[in-house]
Amino acid sequence: MTSSHLHNLRVAIVGAGPAGIYAGNILTNSVTDAGGAVAIDLFESLPAPYGLIRYGVAPDHPRIKGIVNSLHEMLDAGTTRFIGNVEVGRDISLDELHERYDAVILATGAIRDAALDIPGIDLPGSYGAADFVAWYDGHPDVPTEWPLDQREVAVIGNGNVALDVARVLAKHAVDLRSTEIADNVLAGLEASAVTDVHVFGRRGPADIKFTPIELRELGEVPNVEIVVHDEDFVDADPANASNNQLKVMLRILNGWRTRESTGASRRLHLHFYHSPVEVLGEGKVEGIRFERTRPVGDGRVEGTGEFREFAVQQLYRAVGYYGTPVIDAPFDERAGVVPNVEGRVKDARVTGDSDAPVITGLYATGWIKRGPVGLIGHTKSDAMETVAHLVADAEAGRLTAPAIDGDVLELLDEREVAYTTWDGWLALDAHERELGATHLHTRERVKVVPRDEQVRISRGTLVP
Ligand SMILES: Cc1cc2nc3c(=O)[nH]c(=O)nc-3n(C[C@H](O)[C@H](O)[C@H](O)COP(=O)(O)OP(=O)(O)OC[C@H]3O[C@@H](n4cnc5c(N)ncnc54)[C@H](O)[C@@H]3O)c2cc1C
Ligand SMILES: NC(=O)c1ccc[n+]([C@@H]2O[C@H](COP(=O)([O-])OP(=O)(O)OC[C@H]3O[C@@H](n4cnc5c(N)ncnc54)[C@H](OP(=O)(O)O)[C@@H]3O)[C@@H](O)[C@H]2O)c1
Repeated sequence: MTSSHLHNLRVAIVGAGPAGIYAGNILTNSVTDAGGAVAIDLFESLPAPYGLIRYGVAPDHPRIKGIVNSLHEMLDAGTTRFIGNVEVGRDISLDELHERYDAVILATGAIRDAALDIPGIDLPGSYGAADFVAWYDGHPDVPTEWPLDQREVAVIGNGNVALDVARVLAKHAVDLRSTEIADNVLAGLEASAVTDVHVFGRRGPADIKFTPIELRELGEVPNVEIVVHDEDFVDADPANASNNQLKVMLRILNGWRTRESTGASRRLHLHFYHSPVEVLGEGKVEGIRFERTRPVGDGRVEGTGEFREFAVQQLYRAVGYYGTPVIDAPFDERAGVVPNVEGRVKDARVTGDSDAPVITGLYATGWIKRGPVGLIGHTKSDAMETVAHLVADAEAGRLTAPAIDGDVLELLDEREVAYTTWDGWLALDAHERELGATHLHTRERVKVVPRDEQVRISRGTLVP
């Protein structure tokens, strides 16, 4: 028998990245399977859906197309209503959502860089990887120009973001032409002076957080040579690898030790056991100083007391992302997540307050729930856990019924918020594909970058 609480359930989801979209889809299925009915509004601060899939995944990584197609189908089914260009906390408050919905799910992910707290990190020429990623993916809220006027560049970190950033910096622009990269980005990369990209890990080859496909791909970039250093391979025997993925990657890395020099015009250097200590320079980045480390046997490293300096004129820190808080929602600033127990948000303003009660009707999923680690697919299992608790709370009558009836779009209209809709996204999507088809270098799409232009195309108010 269906719980009466599962009828006319109204849920708001904040953030239309994969976590928010999966949550909407799983919630719809759970409730309808139980014979109930749910109306879901999916709020997104950007005019377009897909979060880091649109503004994080590298343009030369079309492999995730299958995932995008399935997320598209979920929203196209119409059971989750997309409401874009609406920032929760600014255009509508969290309290206003609570007044209108039985439950709110926060799925705001992460868009900023984690901090790297070393002297000199704020010097001009020192950047966060997330900002560079946002630029090359055509995010509407970052400047359209990026200074690629230096030859030697450092990337700090040994995760997949570091690999993406290093690859895009090293790759010749001609090899990115067929991707959906925006024209301003292609022009910036075509003018790039970069010759050497140095990637630094503070631990060893056996402690990398790369994935095999991404690592192998690095060695296949045309006219770019990979440089590794024998002294870094103290603990890198594939036979000792703790899992198969690592075994594959250690084979790839070891293979590069013996590869003949190709005389390529750009080089990508991989350095291990370099812990960043200070960014050097008078008024701008001129170098970076590291302490050499060594393994202590349990995956950790210790400083050796030996310091090394590298002359680089630009620096990108790819040391992780940092969660996007929502105004008036609890936020754990240390961990960069919304504090929660399996997706139920805790009323804790203080990190580590394990006794804090959960907030009725407030949930979290995706990167904002568990931190900025994991692939798109992981956000699906996140959503399953969170939605299961929401449905259980609804069935048990633990949610508070909305105090205000009526369509939230009326409130947004009253406030003159230029929200975008799913039909609007279909229009923008078609427009971008059309731009791609008619482009000098034919490609699947060319992204529209400026926010106002995206909004005008979505809302059908673009003057041709
Ligand atoms: C550079 C990079 C490349 C990656 N490449 C891959 C890859 O190739 N393959 C792979 O499987 N995974 C990849 N990942 C991981 C993948 O992107 C994440 O696992 C996934 O995007 C996390 O989903 P999410 O929905 O939690 O967050 P996000 O994707 O960040 O989505 C959150 C959404 O919430 C919106 N939002 C934030 N605040 C508000 C607000 N106040 N109001 C309304 N909306 C708001 C944001 O605009 C955003 O659209 C990559 C990650 C990065 C950083
Ligand atoms: N193509 C893809 O599939 C793809 C692309 C991009 C991102 N992603 C995924 O997105 C998630 C986030 O990736 P990410 O690269 O941002 O994070 P990540 O995988 O957590 O890697 C962060 C890296 O930064 C290093 N680091 C952290 N603090 C540091 C410090 N103070 N000094 C020096 N190094 C420091 C870490 O080293 P330690 O290990 O020593 O802590 C680690 O090597 C990952 O799950 C990733 O797989 C996937």
